[in-house]
Amino acid sequence: EKGGYDHFMLKEIFEQPRSIADSMRGRVNSEEGTLQLGGLSDYMDKLAEAKRIIIVGCGTSWHAGLVAEYVFEELARIPVEVEYASEFRYRNPIINPDDFVIAISQSGETADTLAAIQLAKSKGATIFGVCNVVGSSIARETHAGAYTHAGPEIGVASTKAFTAQVTVLTQMAIAIAHKRGSITEELYQQLLLDLSAIPQKVGQVLKAADRIKEIAYIFTYARNFIYLGRGLNFPVALEGALKLKEISYIHAEGYPAAEMKHGPIALIDEDMPVVFIATKDSSYEKIVSNIQEVKARKGRVIAIVTEGDELIPNMVDFVIEVPETHDILIPLLSSIPLQLLSYYVAVMRGRNVDQPRNLAKSVTVE
Ligand code: F6R
Repeated sequence: EKGGYDHFMLKEIFEQPRSIADSMRGRVNSEEGTLQLGGLSDYMDKLAEAKRIIIVGCGTSWHAGLVAEYVFEELARIPVEVEYASEFRYRNPIINPDDFVIAISQSGETADTLAAIQLAKSKGATIFGVCNVVGSSIARETHAGAYTHAGPEIGVASTKAFTAQVTVLTQMAIAIAHKRGSITEELYQQLLLDLSAIPQKVGQVLKAADRIKEIAYIFTYARNFIYLGRGLNFPVALEGALKLKEISYIHAEGYPAAEMKHGPIALIDEDMPVVFIATKDSSYEKIVSNIQEVKARKGRVIAIVTEGDELIPNMVDFVIEVPETHDILIPLLSSIPLQLLSYYVAVMRGRNVDQPRNLAKSVTVE
């Protein structure tokens, strides 16, 4: 049942070339240059006119929402707010009938997310679901949606569900941007091509597993970890830290790299591992200076970099390469090494990776 892998989590990490492809199947056709999300087709005209999108979710699904915020705003130029479902539902939020709410949930059963949907629905908003479990409560409660098609996820720590969520949300953003005319036809075609290439590139990242295992071994001693990224890699940093906490029980925090100097930099010493997600994108130069700041204080740096980067490997202790892609698709590649890193650290610490203490796969109570 684990297909030869030691744990479901590892099997699910390695399934990602396929699960991401499944999340695009019948939707993206890069040869014909088309993208269609069947579940949303009745709403595309309305969505193209949207004044605001509110995204709700919890945990990893909330992180996927943060990635989507960057992608929607960048491509579709629609303002997006991302909310923890638990905070949203109790805050007397301002919701208008012309708002669109996207609820993200792997299980489709998360109590807070379900309640947030019901609240927004009662105010007249239109609700879309991005769920993995077909026929789940959230899928049934929403007006429309797009399933992630990642297949069943058994490991409690979400891996392939996260990348499938990002894949679906990115497709939504591209489709809406195209409909609105906020991206050129040329960029639209390019994004479809780049999306189609992602599964194969994820396969390439997975080839680094043995090297990541060696790095994990070196850091098994650590009691704390810091994850830093900017732009789209900021939510990736949050997700990397969450993954490590959940399954290895090592305290980890994710921050936008520029927030370092506003406090967390005080934590840096020669024992502190700092994971930088430092791929070649528009914030590359800024993150290079953030790495210098950490190295100047003797932090031990692991950097996720773009293949062929010649600068960062000379500055840091360890590098893991990911292939190049369009900036907005980077999280689909840069999140993978972090999944593997937490997996191997947890295994080396003898943790119950698939069933971490105190956690449930679906949180049906608030
Ligand atoms: C993290 C994790 C949780 C879930 C959260 C929401 O690995 O699995 O943080 O992401 O409980 O669950 P869903 O997506 O089922 O609503």
